[in-house]
Amino acid sequence: MKIGIVGLGYVGLVTAIVLSNEGNQTICVDIDENKLSKLNSGVPTLYEPGLADMLKENTEKMTFTKDYSLLKDCEAIFVAVPTPNKDGRINLEYVYSAVKSLKNHAPGVPVAVKSTVIPGTASEIYKETGVRVVSNPEFLREGSAINDTVHPERIVLGGDQAESVSVFKKIWKFTNAPVIETTNENAELIKYASNAFLATKISFINEMANLCERIPGCDVDIIAKGMGYDKRIAPYFLKAGLGFGGSCFPKDTQAIVSYSESLDAKLSLVDSAIKVNERRVGHNLDRVESKFGKINGKKVCVLGAAFKDNTDDIRSSKSYEIITESRSRGAEVVVYDPVITESPGLKMIEDPKKCIEESDIVMIATEWPSFNGLDFSSAKVVIDFRGILDTGKANMVVGKSE
Ligand code: UDX
Repeated sequence: MKIGIVGLGYVGLVTAIVLSNEGNQTICVDIDENKLSKLNSGVPTLYEPGLADMLKENTEKMTFTKDYSLLKDCEAIFVAVPTPNKDGRINLEYVYSAVKSLKNHAPGVPVAVKSTVIPGTASEIYKETGVRVVSNPEFLREGSAINDTVHPERIVLGGDQAESVSVFKKIWKFTNAPVIETTNENAELIKYASNAFLATKISFINEMANLCERIPGCDVDIIAKGMGYDKRIAPYFLKAGLGFGGSCFPKDTQAIVSYSESLDAKLSLVDSAIKVNERRVGHNLDRVESKFGKINGKKVCVLGAAFKDNTDDIRSSKSYEIITESRSRGAEVVVYDPVITESPGLKMIEDPKKCIEESDIVMIATEWPSFNGLDFSSAKVVIDFRGILDTGKANMVVGKSE
């Protein structure tokens, strides 16, 4: 098939590359010239395991352009533009503007919205533009984005235009995933409900971590393990640490809470999950200072800059929060990351050994499993904020009483 993708962020680019790899021709539209020229020369614009090779193998099936008119003879188009928050509420201007352009340049082509949008957006799009879209939310995780797109746990398709829905069903058939065909509103809310639930699960275990820290002999990882064997709970998203960051959870939880408030049905559990998450960095640094003294004037080595392992994405990264907060408490901060070598405002050190031995305190801020293999023998104090080191390697571990 010939398939259009508008918006080449994480979701759009991964979708385009995977669909090309499945034998489709893709026309990929973005407004960012710099991004387009990189992609046109086969250079990926983000770090994702396996993505660079898959892009290289499929370049002849992919067109990267800012020209919407190249989409006119596509059989289907995905919209994957950002939906950032503005004053805590979702800002849909990029979605509306993309759909308006599609109406002008590719009239009649079935359109699916992959961007995360609040319930009622498809119907607003119809009112604003006259275009009836299919809602096809995306559940891919950064770091395993290709696998999640090729083997999703479900495909959600919302919309009342059976013909359009069936086009997208055909596109995703190769995944063999169960398909939920439903209304636009249900499809839109499934995405938020899923992300909000996962975020709540993380905040739940993080509060449990705070409690464990006060109970001699307790270790939150053992509590999580004991809980996770219960199939109704499941072991996933029960890793205590610095809390959730990234481009989705913080933004989506905030957007769904303000949306729920506007309908006088406030999601107070999700609201609490956000508040617990906001206290993670302050709580953990307070704990460090109460055991090892003020960090004012000390040199801190932060391991990991991204919001989680296997990505170079720094959006809403808890690691950045640790860095900023440590600096505001008077520490000098140097940073090592396995894939990020430079980042605005950060003093990056390429050699982790150097970062560790030259510092007064080492703080593990992202959950790269490879950090466990580092040599900490020269370190004065090691803080494991992500609970990833083997027992005995750290002087302080999140969710563990001292
Ligand atoms: C998330 C959702 O998982 C995905 O379905 C959705 O489409 C987009 O948002 P992603 O942002 O890539 O994906 O990250 P995810 O793996 O979910 O992790 C989010 C944050 O939670 C990270 O900061 C991570 O460090 C943190 N986390 C995750 C924990 O602190 N503990 C856990 O047990 C799991």
